[in-house]
Amino acid sequence: MAHGSEALPLQAERGGPLRGRVRVPGDKSISHRSLILGLLSVGETRVTGLLEGEDVLRTADAARALGATVEHLGPGEWRVRGMGIGTLLEPRGTLDFGNAGTGSRLMMGVVGGHPIRATFDGDASLRKRPMGRILDPLKRMGVTVIDVAEGNRLPLTLQGARDSIPIEYTTPVASAQIKSAVLFAGLNAPGETIVIEPEASRDHTEKMLAYFGAEIRSEPAGTHGRRITLKGRPELSPRPIVVPADPSSAAFPIVAALIVPGSDVIIESVMMNPLRTGLLTTLLEMGASIEELDSRVEGGERVADLRIRHSPLRGVDVPAERAPSMIDEYPVLAVAAAFASGETRMRGLQELRVKESDRLAAVADGLAANGVAHQIVGDDLIVSGSGRAAPGGGLVATHMDHRIAMSFLIMGLASDKAVGVDDTSFIATSFPDFVPMMTRLGGALR
Ligand code: S3P
Repeated sequence: MAHGSEALPLQAERGGPLRGRVRVPGDKSISHRSLILGLLSVGETRVTGLLEGEDVLRTADAARALGATVEHLGPGEWRVRGMGIGTLLEPRGTLDFGNAGTGSRLMMGVVGGHPIRATFDGDASLRKRPMGRILDPLKRMGVTVIDVAEGNRLPLTLQGARDSIPIEYTTPVASAQIKSAVLFAGLNAPGETIVIEPEASRDHTEKMLAYFGAEIRSEPAGTHGRRITLKGRPELSPRPIVVPADPSSAAFPIVAALIVPGSDVIIESVMMNPLRTGLLTTLLEMGASIEELDSRVEGGERVADLRIRHSPLRGVDVPAERAPSMIDEYPVLAVAAAFASGETRMRGLQELRVKESDRLAAVADGLAANGVAHQIVGDDLIVSGSGRAAPGGGLVATHMDHRIAMSFLIMGLASDKAVGVDDTSFIATSFPDFVPMMTRLGGALR
């Protein structure tokens, strides 16, 4: 469990329409990176709107262990004092990242670029996740893997490079975590570190490094890819960071409003970075009523207030190349698809097998438990919606996965029978306020 405590089961049932105006927490990807950039720049970085979820708090602890002063000034307000690239301290204890894949993998890159030794560990979910994808490029950059659990899993101990080697690396999968680990390690390498990705993944690391003064450029490569070039050994200068609301968290109230009859909800200041909006594209194709009310720029990202109204949905074909821009949103898209008329085919979901849980299996089991017809064909998930409410009535195993828990609670808000989840404690990793917020909108969660 997120706190090492008891499982917290919960049930969601159908009630009246969802109504109101809410703001979801700060973006998880940008929150992790804010703390890391604060650690790597000289002086004081102020962060507003930081996500205070378990995952990000683990990254804050790791930044402290590596020598930063990290202070919580008030709700969402944080101050990080760093000492700059090349100055990190060797941590005394194990860096425990809990459930957080992003925090652990990005920090492996940070540590890998410094001549220090650190042990990385996490909870039972994180210990199952593949780390070879990060270790492979880091080894080429001069990192030594001192110790690692079988199958390139946590716990593992790295000895960072004394003189990092700048490399050109083509990522084997579209993963912002791999790209970011290489770029962070490349910060302390002389010369240019180049990452080529076959499909563009979220670009927060590149944008934030540029904002902090690094020389970094990103060019198109191939049909959907990018080539990113970073000049090593920049002096990063602290800049204030405003964290926009997380589109991956907004996904839950968005789908809830679409499937609960009579709903009309506004979600404020949602980040509209095009590498994160694949779910919105897909829902619009399905016939969703989603209106952008006030498009503006905040903290270097376009944000908008979104008005979502209950909508009849129809099944669509979601192309594999859209996956990087909505990789965390498939569980809740599968819920929307269960209420749509006709088949929704989500293609190319192989990466879902290595998230906080095997999400392809967890989603399929959850759909089965709630009477929703579906099929896995290769790496595709096909959900056959009936165009009316899902039967529900199931108890869903969440497998230490926040997004599985939230997705099936959303399903329960509109199903014929209530939907239960076995453990909601991991929701605190990314969306601590999820249950009270959905309750405020009118959801029946108990
Ligand atoms: C993230 C990248 C994605 C995503 C994760 C956050 C990031 O993982 O699933 O929740 O902040 O870089 P991959 O890069 O492995 O696809």
